[in-house]
Amino acid sequence: MISSTHLSRRGFTKTTLFAGAALASRAISADTPPPRIRTGLIGCGSVSNQYLPQLTNSPFVEVVSLCDIKPERAQRQAEKFKVAHHYPHIDAMLAGEPFDFLIDTTDMQEHEKINRRALESGKHVWSEKPIANTLAAGQELLRMAQAKKLRLWGAPITVQSPQFVFMAKTLAAGKLGRVAAAHADYGHEGPNWSAFFYEKSGGSMPDLAVYNLTSLTGLLGPVKNVSAMLSIVTAEREIRDRGTIKVTEEDNAQILLDHGGGVLSHVQSGFNYFNPNGHDGSKESRHTISIVGSGGFMGLVGYDWQPLGVDLATKESPNLERHVVDAQGYVWQQGASLAAECLATGKELLVTPEQALHVLEIITAARESSATGQRVALTSTFKWPVVS
Ligand SMILES: NC(=O)c1ccc[n+]([C@@H]2O[C@H](COP(=O)([O-])OP(=O)(O)OC[C@H]3O[C@@H](n4cnc5c(N)ncnc54)[C@H](O)[C@@H]3O)[C@@H](O)[C@H]2O)c1
Repeated sequence: MISSTHLSRRGFTKTTLFAGAALASRAISADTPPPRIRTGLIGCGSVSNQYLPQLTNSPFVEVVSLCDIKPERAQRQAEKFKVAHHYPHIDAMLAGEPFDFLIDTTDMQEHEKINRRALESGKHVWSEKPIANTLAAGQELLRMAQAKKLRLWGAPITVQSPQFVFMAKTLAAGKLGRVAAAHADYGHEGPNWSAFFYEKSGGSMPDLAVYNLTSLTGLLGPVKNVSAMLSIVTAEREIRDRGTIKVTEEDNAQILLDHGGGVLSHVQSGFNYFNPNGHDGSKESRHTISIVGSGGFMGLVGYDWQPLGVDLATKESPNLERHVVDAQGYVWQQGASLAAECLATGKELLVTPEQALHVLEIITAARESSATGQRVALTSTFKWPVVS
């Protein structure tokens, strides 16, 4: 036990932050490096190749186990990233090498059940999007986490980019005048490695629109009402290892959002978009998000998950000028590593589970609106502004 009277200011701050963190039981001195969070990752497919280099290079993470229902994938990643333990099922993983933090990179439809199992077992959770399949199930998971003093977060992390912060501060400073409208879009020709993207509770919205919905709700505030039209453009797809599958969830989405106060925005996503740059975010140079008001225009250069700058024109300075061309260390793959840093040091993120669940409600409301032809009122909200 360390008495606060014997601590330097730095040591006291650090200890106080630790007290706020869920893993705070370990007392530290000013010179002790923060603990590495014992971490397990479940779902060793495509995106694990993006997460694991970040995690294994993070000073706040010790990856102790991997899991995949296709055991050869867990074994391959364990060998490649030098992880000591790998398992073919979540039950075996939870009963095996102890860990504190689970990263869920499985199929979109699996997250809810896996996240619940992890929280029930006392693990903090970082989940790929979505955290759950419905708002009610997601809120129940969040309540469970809070009751157990555990943390739950969900991708994506677009609000962490310096370009997002610049846009949020520009809006807060009133530089666009009375804000009226925004548009955002993201699409490509669709993944060909897994069927879940095209099956019930999949689709382009939870996979792609989710980035724009996180950015626009982060910039313009929580949404009051949603209207949407969804369609299936390509009825059958060729999927590696599966052959021809039927597409049963939308692959083409147009979503209208009412943020209140007269502010309207529009998000467009799909799996049928010609894109000369494929998935390579660094080559996209057009505005994928634009916001306009009575006194100015702002365009995000490139995708919001890997932005390259922000173009701004105002009445005072009407020629479009580019700002924030430096990523300042931000990469979209770092969400789970940032969450581990939060667990280790108490440093908070701009990403919140409440916003992720609000975005999930927009997606399920868009499905309902398209099916019924009605505008759908939302019930959830989150703390806004995101950047103060
Ligand atoms: N691939 C990308 O570039 C990318 C980028 C950002 C986000 N994401 C998100 O990451 C998630 C995974 O996508 P992906 O492209 O890696 O898919 P994937 O199909 O390549 O990988 C998913 C893996 O999860 C495993 N899995 C499924 N159910 C499981 C279970 N119950 N227990 C253990 N393992 C299970 C599968 O066997 C597979 O290996 C999705 O939510 C997707 O939206 C993917």
